[in-house]
Amino acid sequence: MFASLNAEYYNASYPIIISENSLSSLNIYLSEIKKKNIFLIIDSKFKDNNYHPSKTLTKIINNYNKIFISGGIKSKSLNQLTKILFHLSETNLTRDSYIVAIGGGVIGDIVGLAASIYLRGLKLIHVPTSTTSMLDSSIGGKTGLNIFDKVNMIGTYYHPEMVFIDTRFLYTLNKRDFRAGIAESIKKSIISDKIFFNYLDVNSDKINNLEFESIFYLIKKSLEIKLMHTRQDMFEKAKRLFLNYGHTFGQSLESYYGIDQKSLRHGEAVSLGCICASYMACALNKKVDKTIISQHKSIFSKFNLPVHINEIKSLKKPKVNILFNLINNDKKKIITGNRFILSEKIGEAKVVTISNKKLIISSFNKILE
Ligand SMILES: NC(=O)c1ccc[n+]([C@@H]2O[C@H](COP(=O)([O-])OP(=O)(O)OC[C@H]3O[C@@H](n4cnc5c(N)ncnc54)[C@H](O)[C@@H]3O)[C@@H](O)[C@H]2O)c1
Repeated sequence: MFASLNAEYYNASYPIIISENSLSSLNIYLSEIKKKNIFLIIDSKFKDNNYHPSKTLTKIINNYNKIFISGGIKSKSLNQLTKILFHLSETNLTRDSYIVAIGGGVIGDIVGLAASIYLRGLKLIHVPTSTTSMLDSSIGGKTGLNIFDKVNMIGTYYHPEMVFIDTRFLYTLNKRDFRAGIAESIKKSIISDKIFFNYLDVNSDKINNLEFESIFYLIKKSLEIKLMHTRQDMFEKAKRLFLNYGHTFGQSLESYYGIDQKSLRHGEAVSLGCICASYMACALNKKVDKTIISQHKSIFSKFNLPVHINEIKSLKKPKVNILFNLINNDKKKIITGNRFILSEKIGEAKVVTISNKKLIISSFNKILE
């Protein structure tokens, strides 16, 4: 099975290859470029050959200039960005050079940022290796790092030249990170595709067991939805905002726990955030059918994602007032209040601006009490 999607933006257009053997396509693509013009930035997990899905990755890694950097949230820092820029400068890369980011969402975001600013922009290739990066972060052009304990406070919009998705990478990903990525797909299905939501509901076992066909469909469909929402709205003025479903509550939880993914993965925060949002949708509009809440809980639970804070044993219960204050840091906030994405019905979403403290706190409390 093979798919080639085309990302079309007003300022960029690039292919996204999805298959069980995209590394071979990557190898052929790179062989057409001058070797000295290629620089790999790789998640340090892949220093260990046991994480290589095939010998092709070993060959690519051995063949080109490279650095390894750690995955995990700590790498999305100013310090890490400086180190990357230093290496790019040491390697004397020119503007026609290619940076190849091989890793999860963290590597993709920080390398994307470095590629976008070094010499005012180098060519970028994404090779996503985690669920989150395959079905979400490697397309859409957002790059970023965390600063002052705030999520993605610095960043750029910068598109890759190509994205190569090789599904075999997922076999070595730990289960918690695997599931955290699925939260981004569930979110997409809730905001815009009831049929996809039903697919996830019926096929959760196959996906959890990494059956290729269901994983292939999961990635392809998730990317198609993201392309649809970002194509006409690169800069989050309207439709792209829907993709932030669950994120306003979620980012506040992430900031509360010091954006340390060890305590709370980004996808887990999204799952909890979507549950808060489902309660908020019902509280705001009494006509909304309350089964929307049980539908949310059921689908996230099928992928072992948390629907209540108690389900993550390592977490100390947060103070709701602090969570409320942290919501004020949200980048989507406007002068009249916070913008929440709400879904009153599976497959549909809308943006609502809310400044009602009581409502925000009572929605948070649904996952805390
Ligand atoms: N740019 C965007 O549009 C966008 C969208 C969603 C999320 N994100 C960002 O993505 C990040 C989360 O992504 P993530 O979950 O991929 O985090 P990550 O990159 O830290 O990967 C999670 C863990 O899995 C390891 N790993 C990666 N691939 C592996 C593999 N094939 N086998 C074994 N281990 C592997 C990493 O080393 C890390 O320890 C967050 O920082 C979030 O803000 C960005």
